[in-house]
Amino acid sequence: MSTRSLQRIIRSIPASDGAGVKLGRSLGQSPFHRVDPFLMLDEISSDSPDDYLAGFPAHPHRGFETVTYLLEGHMLHEDHLGNRGDLRSGGVQWMTAGRGIIHSEMPQQEDGRLHGFQLWINLPAVEKMKAAAYRDIQPNEIPHIELAQGGTAKVIAGTLEIAGKVIHGAMQGLSTAPLFFDVRLPANGIFSHPVTATLSAFLYPYEGALTIGTPDIALPLQAHEAGVLSSGEQIEVRAGADGAGFLLLAAHPLGEPVVQYGPFVMNTKTEIEQAIQDYESGELV
Ligand code: CO
Repeated sequence: MSTRSLQRIIRSIPASDGAGVKLGRSLGQSPFHRVDPFLMLDEISSDSPDDYLAGFPAHPHRGFETVTYLLEGHMLHEDHLGNRGDLRSGGVQWMTAGRGIIHSEMPQQEDGRLHGFQLWINLPAVEKMKAAAYRDIQPNEIPHIELAQGGTAKVIAGTLEIAGKVIHGAMQGLSTAPLFFDVRLPANGIFSHPVTATLSAFLYPYEGALTIGTPDIALPLQAHEAGVLSSGEQIEVRAGADGAGFLLLAAHPLGEPVVQYGPFVMNTKTEIEQAIQDYESGELV
């Protein structure tokens, strides 16, 4: 079985979005920092409310999915469909923008720590104009497994198969078939998982460091770096001496042209112009 090696590192850089929320952006810094179908990965990690309280007031999206996962803190989501969800630590909000959504994402706490992620996953051309959809996944709806060699894995999307156990994650049935796991390992802990060879995949340690690949090809990946993996049938990682927490993402690449203008991600410039026109004339959603 071929094991994936570390092919490329996308280090996160400081960025600001919404009404001035400070975050670290790895994927999505530029068109050259995507891992098809993943468009963007932001990490918000701050003890200072000034960095995040202004939040993300009402804004549009078209053509892809936004996935928000909170490790700590608490955030209120509202959209034009009347969905209202209070995203809590350990919860996930899976929002399919499709033809259009207008929503706000506002941190609720007055003090304390906020730590979480927003991931953008592209939709195939045939699904970009489908109706918007929204799922608020509570922490207790996300299955997890204790790993035999120590550590835990939470299965947010896709199916985890490890040591004869099969665990179906909270999100299933999407056409890009994403795997989204949150894995925590003790010092020098090992995680290995089979994966379809043709899926795009990357790892994002948010705590501690990893080495990736079998010992003969192992390469280091530090916290807040997205490590893009080669193709192969197996992902194998080892935590450093302080243990590690990391996101594992994999999905079917779309192989379609991507034209992005801020919160609109389509296949052609004409479709982007249409999105802008629809938004300005109140016909996005
Ligand atoms: Co948004």
